[in-house]
Amino acid sequence: MSKIACVILAAGQSTRMKSKLSKVLYPIAGRPAISYPIAAAKGIKAERVVVVRGPKQDDLKSYLNTIPVKQAVQKQTLGTAHAVSSASKALAGFDGYVLILCGDVPLIRSEVLAEFLETVATRQARAGVLTTTPSNPFGYGRIVRDLDDEVIRIVEEKDASEKERAICEINTGIICAQAPWLVKTLKKIDSCNAKGEFYLTDLIHMAVAEGSKVAGFHSAANDDFIGINTRVDLALVSKIMRERINTTLMLDGVGILDVANTFIDADVKIGQDTTIMPYTFISGASKIGIECTIENGVVIHNSVIGNGVHIKAHSVIEESIVLEGAVIGPFARLRPSTRIGARARVGNFVELKKCELKEGAKANHLSYLGDATIGRGANIGCGTITCNYDGVNKHKTVIGDDAFIGCDTQFIAPISVGRGAVIGAGSTITKNVPAESLAMSRVTQSTVKGWAKKRRKNKR
Ligand code: UD1
Ligand code: CA
Repeated sequence: MSKIACVILAAGQSTRMKSKLSKVLYPIAGRPAISYPIAAAKGIKAERVVVVRGPKQDDLKSYLNTIPVKQAVQKQTLGTAHAVSSASKALAGFDGYVLILCGDVPLIRSEVLAEFLETVATRQARAGVLTTTPSNPFGYGRIVRDLDDEVIRIVEEKDASEKERAICEINTGIICAQAPWLVKTLKKIDSCNAKGEFYLTDLIHMAVAEGSKVAGFHSAANDDFIGINTRVDLALVSKIMRERINTTLMLDGVGILDVANTFIDADVKIGQDTTIMPYTFISGASKIGIECTIENGVVIHNSVIGNGVHIKAHSVIEESIVLEGAVIGPFARLRPSTRIGARARVGNFVELKKCELKEGAKANHLSYLGDATIGRGANIGCGTITCNYDGVNKHKTVIGDDAFIGCDTQFIAPISVGRGAVIGAGSTITKNVPAESLAMSRVTQSTVKGWAKKRRKNKR
């Protein structure tokens, strides 16, 4: 393929989103919308990628500063041709084809772009336009073809005659042109049209008028060209993106029970023979191993899950690591910096924060373990609480391997319990417990025989 530079337009105002955020930054499957056309541009090995943004889009500027693309600023939004000319400086010295994409069209795929560019290059055309036939062409620029079926003009909805409005083939907004000719011709475009804007689409009839070749390339995949103008569009595009992600995963051997109701971000990796039940959200850069079961209603964010892990219903796991064979939940909460060792168990209503549960350790019921290290094979009884916060600072609790912690124990941190120690149920532990010892802080029980019967009698 010939040399390609890519200009991605993103300076338009996003008034219909009714939002402070630039619309091209709205997350779709965990990535900003504009990252998709940028990835598509990289996918066709574009030598230069230039994003045209507005002067006041500080959020977009900050994002673009973090990735390897050039930025051009369009000072006023005077139309798509004006936007592309803002990138002229960034295109200086380039003599291949310039491909123009929109920042708000995230479903575009590099395969389609490659086919389009191949056609344009093979026909040695001056310019090319990627077209499609949506179910409703309203609002789009229509493609006017001559008797030989060659594209001769694009006419915008507002400028179109009744006959032209009846045309169903539309401009996807994706146009390409030879760089030197493009830069020269953009200067000649005027704003004499219904919107008073400088239309990029004028390039097409200008090329035809000077006797140059224009290549129209029709794609049937019209989902690819859906633009985001409102939050309704955003929801639709997100849904299609999720379906694509889920399809790819299933073809790679991941079991997904309900494609429409499984929400997996674009950067998530999942191993073969893992099964995912409905209403799960797996987001960020999460990585899940092979042969895991992720039950319904589970939320996993930026976490690493080892092989053969079973995460039971309605557990929430955030920025944590779970090693192979562990069983989590139902209704467990792993807050950031938690590490669950191999074959360890975390049961219902257990909250962990900055907590390491080493191999084979168990905390099966109703506990809070924060800023804690729990040794291998230790057993944490129901209702155990690490009192880690003194109102000002956080303190650590360290429990040795094979320790047995009776139910309803509170550890007043900082504190440590030695290897193999036993804590009697209902204790408040304030002093370190040496290895292999028993510690208990219960008040001695007193029992008064017959007391209850007497009380009942008095009340009568
Ligand atoms: C444009 C096309 C239309 C096509 C449609 C496909 C023109 C004149 N019309 O219309 O033929 O069917 O896209 O979606 O090109 N932008 C800027 N600066 C500007 C104006 C726009 O950066 O001054 C950006 C927008 O952010 C957007 C893209 O260019 O990403 C398209 O602009 P928009 O105003 O949405 O064009 P349409 O009227 O939809
Ligand atoms: Ca548009």
